[in-house]
Amino acid sequence: MSIVLPSQSSMLSPSFTFGVATASFQIEGGVDHRLPCIWDTFCQQPNTIADNSNGDVACDFYNRWQEDLELIDSLEVDAYRLSISWPRVIDINGELNPLGVDFYLQILDRLKKKNIKAFVTLYHWDLPQHLEDDGGWLNRNTAYLFRDYVDKISHAFGDRVYSYATLNEPFCSAYLGYELGVHAPGIIGKEFGKKAIHHLLLGHGLAMQALTKNSPDSQNGIVLNFTPCYPHSDSKADRDAANLADQHFNHWYIKPLIDGQYPDLINQIPMQHRPDILPGDLEIISADNDYLGVNYYTRAIYRHDDVTQFEQVLPENVPLTDMGWEIYPDAFTHLLTSLDREYQLPPLYITENGAAMPDSIVDGKIDDNDRLEYFQQHLLAVDNAINQGVNIIGYFAWSLMDNFEWALGYQKRFGLVYVDYNSQVRTIKRSGHAFAEFIKQRKK
Ligand code: GCO
Repeated sequence: MSIVLPSQSSMLSPSFTFGVATASFQIEGGVDHRLPCIWDTFCQQPNTIADNSNGDVACDFYNRWQEDLELIDSLEVDAYRLSISWPRVIDINGELNPLGVDFYLQILDRLKKKNIKAFVTLYHWDLPQHLEDDGGWLNRNTAYLFRDYVDKISHAFGDRVYSYATLNEPFCSAYLGYELGVHAPGIIGKEFGKKAIHHLLLGHGLAMQALTKNSPDSQNGIVLNFTPCYPHSDSKADRDAANLADQHFNHWYIKPLIDGQYPDLINQIPMQHRPDILPGDLEIISADNDYLGVNYYTRAIYRHDDVTQFEQVLPENVPLTDMGWEIYPDAFTHLLTSLDREYQLPPLYITENGAAMPDSIVDGKIDDNDRLEYFQQHLLAVDNAINQGVNIIGYFAWSLMDNFEWALGYQKRFGLVYVDYNSQVRTIKRSGHAFAEFIKQRKK
């Protein structure tokens, strides 16, 4: 099996960027050389991580990055999306930590040498713990400290970076971290999520100002995740429920960025759940982005519930990934075309798409045809959206290699490359070979 797109697909043109993605906490290890972050602390608490693991070693990328850049190169990609660990590059006094900065400078220089574009995410959830001790993203000051960090690091990186993303999936940071409490810092309470997201988005807007100043030639933007919301039935009640969930989980994050306002729903939620919006905040938040990053994995289905208004329904007898997520590529096309209709969008990158599958290594090989098929279907879904007029300029597979899957630990494998966590040996899976072959064919 291989990956094939229609011969006239614009995704086959050399100007379309293909890449692989990772995030600092999920792969680096090397904890002794940085300050603690909220995920270190969260992993130490009981019953937070499914396999009681942590990020102390992870994929040991901190020590193996040279080998891993060779691996990335062998996958023929145009770009590598990585994230910077804030507690590795900024010390306790808010100054640059030369050791941490140098780690990333070496990586960026090596990527440049290899002609692989660096897509740098500045915040993929690893907030320095000492800032959480001061209130984390519930403290407005964290947005300004984020700006200061971005200002310093983007200055240090000079012209090495092709594209910056300020935040990755602020929905997860705010909702999973400060409302459901299933991600670090593990805070639970309906009154916190929307306060946290406002400060995250403010941090994004302030960081964009620093990037525009220090790195005007890179493509600067933000990465959002979307889980399209579908009604369980055609009834008005279920359609309203799906729409409400969509406002809470999707539009809440994009609308302030593009339109400079939160969904009207803000007027209906209890006063104590609303964020503190100061004059000027929404202008800062809605400054122009050079691109928007879209992460898509699955859809969600909702029905009406008398108490909570909407309730998620798990679909039965449908294909699922190892995360239990429905495989439903049509929702990807639909998401992209409907965002394009509803918003004045900058160009889009698909910054993450992929699947965890129950891989096993047999005779040194991983025949993950299920993942390969997922990629095939979802690349077609992107192509379909492009054909309907959506301006999409790149696609990143999540992930380069198996890694620490947050609250699920090392049990879920998303990689194009298999990682044996005992030996740290990497083995390219069948899907990885197919992805590489596909990109190589297209380069010719
Ligand atoms: C995410 C993350 C990744 C996850 C992936 C699979 O942005 O949610 O960027 O860190 O590993 O999405 O859950």
